[in-house]
Amino acid sequence: MKVLSVVGARPQFVKLAPVAHALVAQGHEHVIVHTGQHYDPYLSDVFFRDLDIPAPDEHLAVGSGSHGYQTGAMLGRLEDAFLAHRPDWVLAYGDTNSTLAAAVAAIKVHQPLAHLEAGLRSFNRRMPEEHNRVLTDHAADLCLAPTPGALAQLHHEGLGERSRLVGDVMTDVLLRTRDRVAGQPLLLPEGVDATAPYRIATLHRAENTDDPARLSAIIESFRTLDQPLLLLAHPRLRAKAAEQGIELNGGSLVTSGPLTYPELVAAVQHSTGVVTDSGGLQKEAFLLRVPCTTVRTETEWVETVELGWNVLVPDPSGNAVATAVQRPAPPATEATPYGTGDAADRTVLALAEAIGARGGQA
Ligand code: UD1
Repeated sequence: MKVLSVVGARPQFVKLAPVAHALVAQGHEHVIVHTGQHYDPYLSDVFFRDLDIPAPDEHLAVGSGSHGYQTGAMLGRLEDAFLAHRPDWVLAYGDTNSTLAAAVAAIKVHQPLAHLEAGLRSFNRRMPEEHNRVLTDHAADLCLAPTPGALAQLHHEGLGERSRLVGDVMTDVLLRTRDRVAGQPLLLPEGVDATAPYRIATLHRAENTDDPARLSAIIESFRTLDQPLLLLAHPRLRAKAAEQGIELNGGSLVTSGPLTYPELVAAVQHSTGVVTDSGGLQKEAFLLRVPCTTVRTETEWVETVELGWNVLVPDPSGNAVATAVQRPAPPATEATPYGTGDAADRTVLALAEAIGARGGQA
């Protein structure tokens, strides 16, 4: 079987790692196409290096742009790549503009398309990611669901027959990385004492960064917390804060650039809490049993909230963020809603089985 993975943004490199390893381990051919959506070394190269991912076979170098321009710039180049490699599957990951471009390019050249992390919904139609994932699921020949809830949603949308539950591949890589960094000395960026309690924050979604009132309310509340808060700033946050004249330090707030994946896992594991608007980090915090506060109106990872380890703050004004962050510890749980670390193997098996079912050679 020949699989062509399309990736472009930071969370997709994390998901790619266990899939790339499982494909090789099971004796399949794998082509990696990087759209170039993320190009800063700390948003891209370090993931390939630290997670042992082979260098991309093709790099499309599309760079940044508005959603339409960025997605459009990918389309023709992806079509060329699909026609050059003619894989058995184009595999699209998650919900970014690179995901949607992979889906549209695949259907235009009649390439079988599989979508990993299918069936997740925020039901917030203002999020670009919500459109990207809904459109990709409905274009896909095979929807690979991370959770029973996501699979139920695919059935609800009439996609049940082409959907399979494989588990969450981010859990695979998180558990492996957690074990790898265990026992290593913890190194944090300057300004935060690794021997005292601290929390970790990230913030990059347009709904938070592009609204000056909302962004300043969030940053102001970060300054008032009872423990140091290390904010790992995405370039978009830095740009928007500078544009709006918002200072990203002061009080309990210390800002640094993004961390590598092993550094992030270690930093979260030793922290007393996480504040974020990232999808992946909510789940990573839960898997490391660190309480999370999510500055959003909804989450796709509802299990983290149901189990008490994640609290949503839809409106960050006043002291809503501080109250949520400084809440009492959640109840201990042994629940494994995201699987136990074998999702990449199950993903590869599902891809091979589906080729068998359509009469091809796995
Ligand atoms: C994208 C995904 C989002 C994901 C996030 C992870 C979409 C619609 N969104 O958002 O789902 O959670 O990646 O990080 O695809 N920039 C740089 N260097 C880079 C990349 C971006 O400076 O390497 C800056 C540029 O100013 C760019 C902005 O960040 O315009 C936004 O980047 P973009 O890729 O459009 O979206 P993200 O916010 O990263």
